[in-house]
Amino acid sequence: MVETSDEWIIERTGIRERRIAAPDETAASMGAIAGKNALEAANVDPSEIDAVICATTSATYAFPSAACEIALKLGIEKAAAFDLAAACSGFSYAYGVAHGMILSGQAKKVLIVGSDLVSRTCDPTDRTTIILFGDGAGACVLGASDEPGTLAIKLSSDPKSGDLLRLPYPIRNNSHDEYLYMKGNEVFKRAVGVLSSLVTDTLEAAGVSYEELDFLVPHQANLRIIAATARKLKMDMSQVIVTLDKQGNTSAASVPLALDEGVRSGRIKRGDMLLLESFGGGFVWGSALVHY
Ligand code: ACO
Repeated sequence: MVETSDEWIIERTGIRERRIAAPDETAASMGAIAGKNALEAANVDPSEIDAVICATTSATYAFPSAACEIALKLGIEKAAAFDLAAACSGFSYAYGVAHGMILSGQAKKVLIVGSDLVSRTCDPTDRTTIILFGDGAGACVLGASDEPGTLAIKLSSDPKSGDLLRLPYPIRNNSHDEYLYMKGNEVFKRAVGVLSSLVTDTLEAAGVSYEELDFLVPHQANLRIIAATARKLKMDMSQVIVTLDKQGNTSAASVPLALDEGVRSGRIKRGDMLLLESFGGGFVWGSALVHY
């Protein structure tokens, strides 16, 4: 499709394969499958869910939200349901909101889904973006507990840098600018800088040391960004969950997909200390320190 090579893509990004959704798949259809798997894994009945949050920037409709469609597909009734747009940081933001809802007593169990089809939003002739993005959905159930499992959450933004990474709504804006745009190397530099402060600030907020961390569960945009964050935390790459090689950048789905991969492969176990982090267009970034 474009002038590139496997060698360039693997060396610069770490991506070897990507998953592209079938034409009839949507953020909601993929999100419902991930949500069903999460409910089963958590042994939670749909009737127990008080809120469904879907982190996405590629839903089919502005309304009904993908979250409402997911609730319908899963038989979740009367729960709060809404989409949350924070680009590749959507899952971290949704986690923060769900955590707040639980702490304030608005919900006891929240289904958090990250689902995106960013591959469809890339210009097929732009080699700087078309090689990066895959489609996918991941989900988890967050529930109230007497023993706190979420030790710290940090969410932040730099709205001045919005023009470096953007995804327009071409139809709504009657604009010619229809594809995802990214100034990759500028975004890269910012991501490395922001994430290295974010992860140390998150640990500091919870009074947790590097040595106590078991796994880093990062947003999967670029293996070099992930490796730089791991180095900052003095973590070996064996303590980092990497799915990028098989999935590419799946935007809001990448953190829950990595979490799922870590748990289902048996690497992440109950009681492990996990640091979830992400950085995306806005710019927006976020983290959660989780005692799994
Ligand atoms: N194949 C071959 N050459 C390419 C390709 C390609 N697919 N893409 C770009 N190049 C060329 C460029 O044209 C440039 O050539 P030039 O030197 O002749 O001008 C050269 O390679 C270097 O380009 P850079 O953009 O500087 O390459 P870089 O090493 O920065 O890698 C990449 C690009 C992979 C996009 C990297 O910058 C990156 O990962 N950025 C961060 C992405 C990210 O974190 N995004 C945030 C989350 S996404 C979201 O929120 C939706």
